[in-house]
Amino acid sequence: MELTKVVGLPSEILQESKNIKSQLVNWRRDFHRYPELAFQEKRTSAKIAGILKSFGIDVKTGIAKTGVIGTLTGGKPGPTIALRADMDALPITEMGENDYRSLHQGVMHACGHDAHMAAVLGAAKILCQRKEQLKGKVKFIFQPAEEIATGGAQDMIKAGCLDGVDAIFGLHVWSHIPEGVVRIVDGPMMAAADKFRIEIIGKGSHASLPHQGIDPIVVASHLVINLQSIVSRELDPLESGVISVCKFHGGETFNIIPEKVTLEGSVRSFTEKGADFFHQEIVERTRLTCEMFGAKYHINYHKVVPPLINDKRMAGIFKSAAEKVVGIKKIENGPAMMSSEDFAYYLKEIPGAFCFIGAGKREGGDCYPHHHPHFDIDENALVTATAVMALTAFFYFLKPFKS
Ligand code: NI
Repeated sequence: MELTKVVGLPSEILQESKNIKSQLVNWRRDFHRYPELAFQEKRTSAKIAGILKSFGIDVKTGIAKTGVIGTLTGGKPGPTIALRADMDALPITEMGENDYRSLHQGVMHACGHDAHMAAVLGAAKILCQRKEQLKGKVKFIFQPAEEIATGGAQDMIKAGCLDGVDAIFGLHVWSHIPEGVVRIVDGPMMAAADKFRIEIIGKGSHASLPHQGIDPIVVASHLVINLQSIVSRELDPLESGVISVCKFHGGETFNIIPEKVTLEGSVRSFTEKGADFFHQEIVERTRLTCEMFGAKYHINYHKVVPPLINDKRMAGIFKSAAEKVVGIKKIENGPAMMSSEDFAYYLKEIPGAFCFIGAGKREGGDCYPHHHPHFDIDENALVTATAVMALTAFFYFLKPFKS
């Protein structure tokens, strides 16, 4: 595309996004009314496929069970960019009173994935209308099962969704950031999330005869404390991480020392190195604590999601598109967050970037956290998200460098 055409492009794309606001809202509310859980997104994927086809986009369905991929071939040859949305809802009963509240009892779009689908559909619509100007291909990836952390992105990758793709971009609406603000971090942006289950096997005995047993409750209590000092005493204070023991189960009654205690917990870190460090430390402290008391143990440690690390150049492209949409003063470079997101798997394969689109309600002050039964977004965020995604595709084709 010639430079003269680029100058007016951002404002045109933003205007086109504003023009389709009522359609974006309708799509989002429709998804919101009919939420579906991970890998059950049948109605959702049929609807997405229908909309993409109506734009004349080539559509493949049934990828990783319920995933959908639309491919738009531009007027000129060039690289391939992917724009990704996640599709699944959560097992939560919606408490809000909106007329678009969930009609599926016990299921709710309480994380904003309904908005992500609407925004990527909006970007698809705008890019289709400007198909002849595109110097490359755009793949629209609608992924199932982000919320369960194991499956969605990985299964899409296994099914070949990144084949031939040079760069990928994704976003999350975020209710803790005001609408109109966009956050993009150069580098680590969301944490690796790992989980562990430790079974401590002692020796049961009567409460009055502790010397005849090995009390797993005492061992587990020491272990919880020992795990807590990994972050405070072993980790470089300039690094960050979290170890939370969230489940502590053992014993049946007040006067019997039980045989076993089970602990479960979650570990967060921002680098693969950090994740390995915590893994080693947890295994080692479990071994040493149990040895001290003569207890045995089994430990299951699962690396669930890697850290989400934005490619600097791709984050730069994303940021320049977002700047044109919301203005440079409304771009935040951080902070990164301890929550996790399976978009990280795509970024392990190819360069790309992820951003947060502010969706906090400006009026009324009701800004419930994600995964809350009252969660809702400011729907102006749909316009911002659509414009940022569509413009990013154009900006990428202008500078299709690879990392
Ligand atoms: Ni989410």
